[in-house]
Amino acid sequence: MLSFSFSNQDRLPALGLGTWKSSTGAVQAAVAEALTMGYRHIDCAPIYQNEPEVGRAIAQAVDSGAVARSDLWLTSKLWNNAHAPEQVRPALEQTLASLRTDYLDLYLIHWPVAFAPGVLYARKKAEFVPLADQPIIDTWKVMEACVAEGLVRHIGVCNFSVAKLDALCRQATIRPEMNQIELHPYLQQRAALDFCKQNNILVTAFSPLGSGDRPTAMKKADEPTLLDNPVILQAAAKHGATPAQVLLGWGLARQTVVIPKSVNPERLRQNLAAAEVRLDDQDMAAIASLDRGYRFVDGSFLTGPESPYTMAAIWDE
Ligand code: A2P
Repeated sequence: MLSFSFSNQDRLPALGLGTWKSSTGAVQAAVAEALTMGYRHIDCAPIYQNEPEVGRAIAQAVDSGAVARSDLWLTSKLWNNAHAPEQVRPALEQTLASLRTDYLDLYLIHWPVAFAPGVLYARKKAEFVPLADQPIIDTWKVMEACVAEGLVRHIGVCNFSVAKLDALCRQATIRPEMNQIELHPYLQQRAALDFCKQNNILVTAFSPLGSGDRPTAMKKADEPTLLDNPVILQAAAKHGATPAQVLLGWGLARQTVVIPKSVNPERLRQNLAAAEVRLDDQDMAAIASLDRGYRFVDGSFLTGPESPYTMAAIWDE
């Protein structure tokens, strides 16, 4: 399995299993199946509201001796309602208990957006906390303390613009080692990739297949689809691969971690085999031309008439 190295030489499997949108009824079997097939990297978050079910599959695999915990890479994320310094460790402890492990390989700040404690999705003014009142660096200091205590091996962020990542790098004692961002041929993120490369930060691509199973409220009527794009279909036909494998192979070729979500055994297997797809320069050039700066997950659910957050401020665009 292709893997990417952190500066302490820990290796992260480049293709992981996404669990956003995996229902509680399906995710335990999907994770169990994935581990049997050879997946060794599971991307989780408490806001996906399925960590206990993911944890059951992990515990079963580890307790039965099928997979050693040390051979597994577990990532989870701090939700927006736990940015207050005193909330960080309890949130992490909850995730550790749910995932049935005593450490995470990677812990990420999920969004550069803060909610009041206990609020899952903020709507009203009092449910939001502006970043000016809850600076990222104060949350980060507790993340750093969790590394020192051995509760997490690596720390990073998600959905951070280059400006926010740069600011955090300047203030941090332990610099972020990962930025998990939406990334696919319609949103190629060249500036973010350049910044991260220069600063020794790995990048994970979320929604690598376009997240077609997002809730309707997060979808636009006229949004483009990736899996049936003619350029992708053409590359798939050329390599005897599926469109999903081309999208994942493209992400891996650009040295990004990819975390496709599936709860279907056939598609889990197909996605894992994407590491074998070798795109050539012609394919890469054709796919490069598809960039249109299009976000499927545009952060609009964090904005609204009573929110202090705007999309311009979230993305610094
Ligand atoms: P399913 O879970 O039924 O397989 P993303 O990873 O970008 O969030 O995309 C996830 C969506 O893509 C889900 O709807 C998932 O459905 C679907 N999917 C996952 N793998 C494949 C594949 N190999 N081919 C087509 N669709 C896929």
